[in-house]
Amino acid sequence: MSEATTHDARRVTVRAPAKINLHLGVGAPRPDGFHPLATVYQAVGLYDDVTVSTWDEWSVQVRYEGLLADPSATGRPADRGVEHTVPLGEDNIAVRAGRALLAHHGIVDVAAAITIHKSIPVAGGMAGGSADAAATLVALDRLWDLDTPDDDLLALAATLGSDVPFSLLGGTAGGTGRGELVEPLADAGSWWWVVVGNDTGLSTPEVYRTFDEMSDVTSLSEPELPPELLDALARGDVHALAEHLANDLQDPALALRPDLQATFDDGYDAGALECLLSGSGPSVLLLCADADHARSVTAAMHEAGHGRAVAVPAPVSGVHVVSYDGPVG
Ligand code: C5P
Repeated sequence: MSEATTHDARRVTVRAPAKINLHLGVGAPRPDGFHPLATVYQAVGLYDDVTVSTWDEWSVQVRYEGLLADPSATGRPADRGVEHTVPLGEDNIAVRAGRALLAHHGIVDVAAAITIHKSIPVAGGMAGGSADAAATLVALDRLWDLDTPDDDLLALAATLGSDVPFSLLGGTAGGTGRGELVEPLADAGSWWWVVVGNDTGLSTPEVYRTFDEMSDVTSLSEPELPPELLDALARGDVHALAEHLANDLQDPALALRPDLQATFDDGYDAGALECLLSGSGPSVLLLCADADHARSVTAAMHEAGHGRAVAVPAPVSGVHVVSYDGPVG
């Protein structure tokens, strides 16, 4: 490891995308409480940027960017005092990522200041926390010249959360196990989605609990990746994709948050090809035919009062370094 002190001027910024699930098949809970998944992840063009520098203690600052910072939209967490804000102390998933990386290398007595420029909705079902964890792993690996092999980073990521390995990978991928076992999938499409954020977050564990309550868990089969959806992706066929989108957490999330039905209705009225809950929600995804269609659907959603609707392309890359300031070498 290179010499790293509190006075080291280097700052590394890493960008990590939000994820959506084009298919989220959920099985009966395992003995460890997690659910077996067969999911198709896609990384979309909505990002958190994580900047790290060496510091004498761990600290995390969060700055809200894009629509999260736009006072004309309704979703500025800092202003609204919503219950789901990002924990800024040692509990923050980015700090846990940093500690896990250091423990992996047997390094002690080093810490970092972490600044998260957040555009991914908080508690929105888009793996914003996982993105921050993945970005922090890579940012600190580069800052401290640790040269952690990719397989080790993926294994560390899996200890931090089920979605964190996918945040590293990006693109379009199948996820099995509890979601942490990821494999890239063929994807010939240039897809456009409109993401409709929501002011109030949903708790992922609560959505899974509601799934258990609403299902006959004894009769649930082992989830499998759907061949028709994989075929639609490989062919880049947006109409076939629209037909085969599925999310087993959608009904439980709607049971907890019946108000989301109005967003689905507005999405169809706006002309979306299909509407889908993102992960465990509450963000709602509207599939569009192309960029022009996404622009018109976004405008219609704004008109209908969804100020946080935003058009995003997919698939996009996983975590990547976007700047490296200060002395090199
Ligand atoms: O892995 P992660 O920390 O993101 O999971 C958050 C929560 O979501 C878990 O504590 C669990 O309640 C639920 N979960 C689950 N099955 C999965 C993934 C997550 O039950 N495959």
